[in-house]
Amino acid sequence: MDKKNNKKIDDLHKDPFEEYLKIGEPEKVDKAYAWQTAVGLQDVDKLSTSDYLMNTARENIEGEISIDEAKRRIDSYYKESAEHKPERTEEADKVSVRIAEILSEKSFVFSPTQYISIHRRLFLGIYSHAGKIRDYDISKREWVLDGASVMYGGANELRETLEYDFNTEREFDYSGRTMSEIISHLTRFVSNLWQIHIFGEGNTRTTAVFFIKYLRSLGFNVTNDVFAKNAWYFRNSLVRANYTNIQKGIHEDRSFLEVFLKNLLMGENNELKNRYMHIAWKETTHSDGKQHIEQHIERHIEHHIQEKNDLLSILNEQAVSPKAKANILKLYESFGLEKIFGRTDVVEVLSITEKPATTLLGKMYSLKLTEKIIGAGKGKYRFIV
Ligand SMILES: Nc1ncnc2c1ncn2[C@@H]1O[C@H](COP(=O)(O)OP(=O)(O)OP(=O)(O)O)[C@@H](O)[C@H]1O
Ligand SMILES: [Mg+2]
Repeated sequence: MDKKNNKKIDDLHKDPFEEYLKIGEPEKVDKAYAWQTAVGLQDVDKLSTSDYLMNTARENIEGEISIDEAKRRIDSYYKESAEHKPERTEEADKVSVRIAEILSEKSFVFSPTQYISIHRRLFLGIYSHAGKIRDYDISKREWVLDGASVMYGGANELRETLEYDFNTEREFDYSGRTMSEIISHLTRFVSNLWQIHIFGEGNTRTTAVFFIKYLRSLGFNVTNDVFAKNAWYFRNSLVRANYTNIQKGIHEDRSFLEVFLKNLLMGENNELKNRYMHIAWKETTHSDGKQHIEQHIERHIEHHIQEKNDLLSILNEQAVSPKAKANILKLYESFGLEKIFGRTDVVEVLSITEKPATTLLGKMYSLKLTEKIIGAGKGKYRFIV
């Protein structure tokens, strides 16, 4: 390792590739530099929050995965997690309130019209296609399928398929069935309904709300909490229930969804982990490099969502304006639990002036979202939720 390189390393604060550059094995050093460049040296501070990227980079440097594989994983990871980024906070908040409103109403008719009208009410003013059946075919890359898509209903037969599913369900006789037969039947119904994906966006939430109302009409006592808390699990389990790839030996698997429904309807307490649903997950290969990555991605995302959910639930309980709420989430997204930040950082991240930044810092502290850091200069804080 030459002096110039060492100097470069010293300049970097917490360089995630440092260890490789120090080892000095030519191939690894090359790759480490490639990654450093790729992710942007000036941004190295922010990168410490992206464990997933670092981990994937390491796997590539170690020679366990190709650069193509690394690229593919990162693309798919960001595509999936983009759904959970703060820009969508406003949408999520609005829709959540509407979900609560619809669920607070007793009225319900088991019909396609009801299903469609739930979509309209949830997304009016948010999606231009609220309440409209899509007239184009769709596919969605799924993390849980390693980037593949479920085969959704074809645009020209959506209405018909929807009606078929409703008619089939209407004819089913629940009397004299055991609870496990009922669960298995409901699993099939909700999975078929979701698979149509009759709308361009918002299918999972519409299906969840409709399903809750339907379950209530059957006498079950259910709320949206379990769905909201496990939103990604619920969606992934529907994906797995509707995906077959014979060549890869993967078949439609409703067991994940069934477990979810057992928790919901029978008060069971099964662990709902996304990682088990990933098509590359193998029970027996825990030490395997690939397995390790899958686990890592999953843990990363789950922690992130969990932490954000905690923060969100605190914010929801307090009198915080939507604007302040969005700003706080954005700050949390940037700083995480590790970074110590002050007014300048807030000004920079939110592009606001110093005065509102100071107010916001005070507000977050009084809500006990942050702690004051002593010895890091004046007015420094860190998130503690
Ligand atoms: N039942 C629910 N209650 C509250 N929020 C939910 C619920 N289900 C999903 N969400 C949130 O809504 C956002 C979008 O969800 P997602 O993309 O998985 O489903 P969708 O948009 O409703 O359906 P699809 O993308 O399959 O058409 C996510 O941030 C998710 O956490
Ligand atoms: Mg969506």
